Amino acid sequence: MLKRLVSANCSLSIGSNSTNGNFLLTATPVVVDGNSFALHGNNVSYCFHADESTGDLLSDHFGGSVTGPIPPDPTPIVNGWTGMLGRVRREFPDQGRGDFRGPAIRIRQSGAHTVSALHYQHHTVVKGKPALPGLPATFGNEDEVTTIVIHLYDKYSTIAADLMYSVFPRYDAIVRSVTVTNKGKGAIVIEDLASLSVDLPFEDLDMIYLRGEWARETHRQRRRIDYGLQGFRSNTGFSSHSHNPFLALARPSTTENQGETWGFSLVYTGSFAVNVEKCSQGLTRVLMGFNPDQLSWSLGPDESLTSPECVSVYSKEGLGGVSRSLHGLYRNHLVKSKFATEDRPVLLNSWEALYFNINSSNLYRIAQESASLGVKLFVMDDGWFGKDYPRVSDTAGLGDWIPNPKRFPGGLAPLVKDITALKSAVAESDKSSANLRFGIWIEPEMINSSSTLYQEHPEWALYADQYPRTEQRNQLILNLALPEVQNFIITCVSDILSSADITYVKWDHNRCMHETPSPTTHHAYMLGVYRVFETLTTRFPDVLWEGCASGGGRFDPGVMQYFPQIWTSDNTDAVDRIFIQFGTSLAYPASSMCGHISAVPNHQTGRTVQIEFRAHVAMMCGSFGLELDPTELHPDERAVVPELIALAEKVNPIVLTGDMWRLSLPEESDWPAMLFISKNASQAVLFYYQLGSKVNHALSRVRLQGLDAQDMYFVDGEGPYSGAMLMSMGLQYCFETDYGSKVVFLEKDSSH
Ligand code: DGJ
Repeated sequence: MLKRLVSANCSLSIGSNSTNGNFLLTATPVVVDGNSFALHGNNVSYCFHADESTGDLLSDHFGGSVTGPIPPDPTPIVNGWTGMLGRVRREFPDQGRGDFRGPAIRIRQSGAHTVSALHYQHHTVVKGKPALPGLPATFGNEDEVTTIVIHLYDKYSTIAADLMYSVFPRYDAIVRSVTVTNKGKGAIVIEDLASLSVDLPFEDLDMIYLRGEWARETHRQRRRIDYGLQGFRSNTGFSSHSHNPFLALARPSTTENQGETWGFSLVYTGSFAVNVEKCSQGLTRVLMGFNPDQLSWSLGPDESLTSPECVSVYSKEGLGGVSRSLHGLYRNHLVKSKFATEDRPVLLNSWEALYFNINSSNLYRIAQESASLGVKLFVMDDGWFGKDYPRVSDTAGLGDWIPNPKRFPGGLAPLVKDITALKSAVAESDKSSANLRFGIWIEPEMINSSSTLYQEHPEWALYADQYPRTEQRNQLILNLALPEVQNFIITCVSDILSSADITYVKWDHNRCMHETPSPTTHHAYMLGVYRVFETLTTRFPDVLWEGCASGGGRFDPGVMQYFPQIWTSDNTDAVDRIFIQFGTSLAYPASSMCGHISAVPNHQTGRTVQIEFRAHVAMMCGSFGLELDPTELHPDERAVVPELIALAEKVNPIVLTGDMWRLSLPEESDWPAMLFISKNASQAVLFYYQLGSKVNHALSRVRLQGLDAQDMYFVDGEGPYSGAMLMSMGLQYCFETDYGSKVVFLEKDSSH
């Protein structure tokens, strides 16, 4: 349970009058010295203190490791309209006391005003990390993570706020969430609450974030932070295609592989807001958390609201360093699935092969062909359900989770039995059974008005009084804030999974929220979704779950807690995918991404590129597959698919668990390249592409990174060459056409 830290064991006080506190760096990840607090990772320190006279919590440092005492900040000269509170770096800025920057919390008090004064009361240190009630969260044991909870209290309104900070030293990650409790007698409303609030010193900084749209997700954007407010948000009810809940700050000179960089990633699937404000005094405030347009959360006496958590990482190795920290943390301390780092089966998905035109015979036909190519998992996508309102197009059926009797006369079980009896032609060497596995597509959070469920329960859909229920893709959203709706979904999905040997689920979600009954619905919906995800993934731990929301509309750490992989984009064009996958990799590990070889001309862009390029781009993702009708493959393409599958299976363990280095970016170079180095550094795989060919031009050169300079490596069996040579001189390859690609396998010379 919670223990008070014995200060003599963990800190040493040097100096006298500092309100900033004085720390001696020890191996202790959390150091407390009176009213001063420091969290230390291997290469990061995060320090703050409670002002002795006011009790306000003030920030001291978030950056490279700090050893020894920190000198106190000179007291700012107060002149003009902005008082002291508006000039200092605040750790959890409340509202209404002279700080004119955006607040981390806005409380509509029972007296209707929005002033609050949250002051330090005491703290507790916990080994390990407590779970967050009803919310996804990073986890770790006592050796991996340490937590300090700072208890703040507003004596005027009797409201408490607990700031929970956890440090994962190995990943230089500080994780924070906030719990607000109404200890008074009246009702209050939380109108805004940021999981992360950090004030950085006066310095030039850039912000880097991910923007996009459907089929054009996660495009990297970088711009200078200027005076005033700049930010982004999702209003869609979900994390969205438009903006991802990720932000990086960097010095203007920071690059992919060097320079100070801060990364912030919100573990949440709902609407969110990110505000970056360079205030008139020059300090930069970053706020990340709930979207205040969709909160208004009432708290009666003794009720609490816990924010999602925000992960902050720091690196001196540029954006690549931030990405590698987040990747490692998320693979090992966020994804709960047993498949987090396990090899993923090569799959074939029926969507772009057959769209809604599926039945047991055409599915069996393409499953047979898939098996003969070496595919391991066959996935039946949309179009298999609905009796009175059959799902033969996107106009009907959502909500009626029973197999379409015309398409599947005996239900799903006979088809699943036949397909899982097929033997995959290319057996994975270490797997005893090479039978094809069967997977299924579902979209349980949705309802068509043309469905039996809607006839029976129109009140289960999200709606606002008499306003028209706006349909999108002809569908409405079920109100997952209602326990009866959550239970209905849990039962339906459990029944489907128990009805046949189904070992994979693609959980889709194809619209955003419009009319909602109340401003609390958005977050209540999320708590409902998380309850459903938690229940089902715990009940069916052997199922490989894949998230999807019209592609990457819900690619966020909240979903990753439950689903180890997420369909990254509905855009299957390999050229576009390079941009999308490089962008996604800023925050998310390759193990969470999915890439498929699809038919040409591509269904989204009309582009035709060779099958090797399509395959090489797809195998940069942890989950590799095909999404085409294999019986329609050109014989030349069909001939190379088995060897491409074999290559994907060979590189998959390194892609899933290795350290990722973005060697050159598609936005900056015609030759984007990415390297994965295996955990024990004995193997590596290089993905190297040419987008446009250059006639009569010198060859490009790719310099590797992250290898051991002293070690020797075989490169596709040749060599060995020194790590120093590979990193300083690099490798050259001759690409003959547009959209050329190379997958290069490196192996350390163990005799060296
Ligand atoms: C949207 C998904 O992103 C697609 O992959 C496909 O599953 C369709 N939905 C099916 O309706």
